[in-house]
This record gives sequence, C-alpha cells and structure tokens, in this order.
Amino acid sequence: MIKKIGVLTSGGDAPGMNAAVVAVARSAAMYGIPLVGIKRGYNGLLRKSPALEDDMEELELDTVLDIADLPGTYLRTARCLEFLDPVWRQVAADTLREMGIGGLVVIGGDGSFRGAEQLCQLGIPCIGIPGTIDNDLAYTEMTLGYDTAVNVCVDAVRAIRATSRSHDRPHVVEVMGRHCGDIALTTALSTGAEIVLVPEVPWSVEGAAARLNMQLAKGNYRATIIVAEGCWDAMKPFDMYTFLNSHGKRCYEGEPISAVRFASILKRMCGMVEARATVIGYTQRGEQPTARDSAFALEAGHLAVRLLRDGISNQVIGMKRGKVTYMAIGEALKAKKAFRRELYDLVNRM
Ligand code: F6P
Repeated sequence: MIKKIGVLTSGGDAPGMNAAVVAVARSAAMYGIPLVGIKRGYNGLLRKSPALEDDMEELELDTVLDIADLPGTYLRTARCLEFLDPVWRQVAADTLREMGIGGLVVIGGDGSFRGAEQLCQLGIPCIGIPGTIDNDLAYTEMTLGYDTAVNVCVDAVRAIRATSRSHDRPHVVEVMGRHCGDIALTTALSTGAEIVLVPEVPWSVEGAAARLNMQLAKGNYRATIIVAEGCWDAMKPFDMYTFLNSHGKRCYEGEPISAVRFASILKRMCGMVEARATVIGYTQRGEQPTARDSAFALEAGHLAVRLLRDGISNQVIGMKRGKVTYMAIGEALKAKKAFRRELYDLVNRM
C-alpha cells in the first residue's frame, strides 16, 4: 500500500495544471493517502533551498480546492536542466525516499515525462499527466491547456477580424505551439482564417503572397494569416534584408523574420496600403481553463492516483477516442505525431 504521493508541475505552465493538482488531492484524500506538493518542477527535489518548506508542502484538500479553476500553477513550475544529469536524478530519488513518498505524479510535457521515466528506473513509481498548451504529444488526442489556448486564440482572432474588416486591411496573427502547428491550424479552422502557416509544412513567402493576392482579387481585404511561432523554421530561403531595404523599409542584416516583418513584406509584395500583425503570446498560457480542460484534468488526476494506489507505474495518461486512458511512458514518447494535412490544405485553398 502506497504511504504518500508527491505531485509536481514541470515545463511551461498550462491552463488546467491547478485543476489536475486538485484532482490528485481529491483522489488521494478519497483513498486516505497523504499528498505532498513539490515546488518548481523537479527543482523541488534537488535540496537546493535552505528550508524544506521552500521545496515541498503537505497538500490538504481544503487548502487546494480553492485553486481548481485558477490559471497558472500554484506549485510553480520550471524547466530543470540538472535533471539531465544522472547525479541530480539520484539526489531527487533519494529525497523522495527520505520523505516517504512512494509515488510521483508529474504534470508536464515530453521533457518532464523523460525525467519521470528515468525516476522509475531509479525505483520511484511515476505517472505522467500531459500538461502543455502545444498539443505536441502524439500518443494523446489532447494535452491539458491546449483547448484553453485555442479558445484564447479564437477570441483574439475574431476581434482582430472585426477590426481588419473595418479598415480593409489584412492581419498576420502569430500563435504559440513550439514545433507543433495544432494551435495555429485549429484556430484557423475555427475562425475562417484565409491562410495558415505551420512548422510541419514547408512554405514560401512568395506562395503566401500569391494566396493573399487571390483574396485581394476576390475583394477580400481583411484576410487573416495565422502563423505558428515555429513556422519560420519551415520557410524557404528568402532575402528579407534585400527585399525590405529595396522597398523603402529599413531592415538590418541578420535580423530574424517575425510576424511584424512578415506583414511588412506581404504589404509590399501585394501592393497594399496597410497590413498589421499581432503576436498573441502568453495570454494563451495564463487564461482560466475551459470546461474541457478542467474535466480532462479531473479525470486524469484521479486516474493517476488510482494507478499508483494499484501499484501501476511508468505510465502516462492521455485521451484516446474521447476516453481518458494510459500507456507506458516509453511507448508514448516513441509515437509520431500525424499532422492534419487535409485540413491545412482546406484552409489554404480558400
Ligand atoms: O511549451 C509551451 C510554450 O508556451 C511554447 O508554445 C513556447 O514555445 C514556449 O512554451 C515558450 O517558453 P518559455 O516559457 O520558456 O518562454
């Protein structure tokens, strides 16, 4: 019988992380298992703080219930480079043993899951809950925070399309997602955006301008171009420096492309008077979780505790065909993400 469980949030914060911690607390209370919250991801296990209370805290259900619908993460989060080093991982495993923590729930993305798998190899049972807005984990249909992030983007794009229509000018909107274009594609599909650019599909500035020109020719002057932050890596070579400087816009050698620069280029290539750009940024991470994310968090947190209680470890929780389920961490991390190319083409054909 497991005597105590630990829970931590790791990597970039995601809406729904608090809800997952509360779910873990509710489930642990139901089974009568004490729960410890570990602060700032794996850092809280490395004994670097002067006092133990800076790194860990007993989580009473009554205390945490209040945070369920709050954005951010009450436990704080961080990326922990030390965890790549086996010496530090051993320190973490020793800390957990000394604290009598017989199982750990790790809420985070793929890097956090790798850490959990390595802790399992050191004899610490771990269960992962996918917490990242990026939806970049192939084994699961959704990650915690993705639905909220998309909703933030959809609200923003709807507002942007309204002002774009008022001024008859196109708008480039950049969304997050790291190397994954899911936030961009779902936002584009949900808002009727005319162009979407993602890291999964190579594209060219000239091609994007040609698509925008098609919209202008049809009399649509308020086209929205949704770009995933990682799409610049899939852009075919383009001499921005020469193009902008020869079209009356100062640009410095080596300056990286950005949404603002891209809007400037499109404006000049398509002969428009104006084009604007907005980077949605961290509002995607700091919003209150949607019902869908909260419900997923609740089921995932409960399942994580149940698995640890039943002596099952080294698993990650996910969603398959709409059902919350689990699979081995190693297997989950090997899965290859399929990009929804047909839907991407559908947006870009319009
Ligand atoms: O992984 C979530 C995410 O928001 C990505 O979409 C983005 O690329 C990255 O984190 C930003 O990370 P940071 O918090 O280090 O700025």
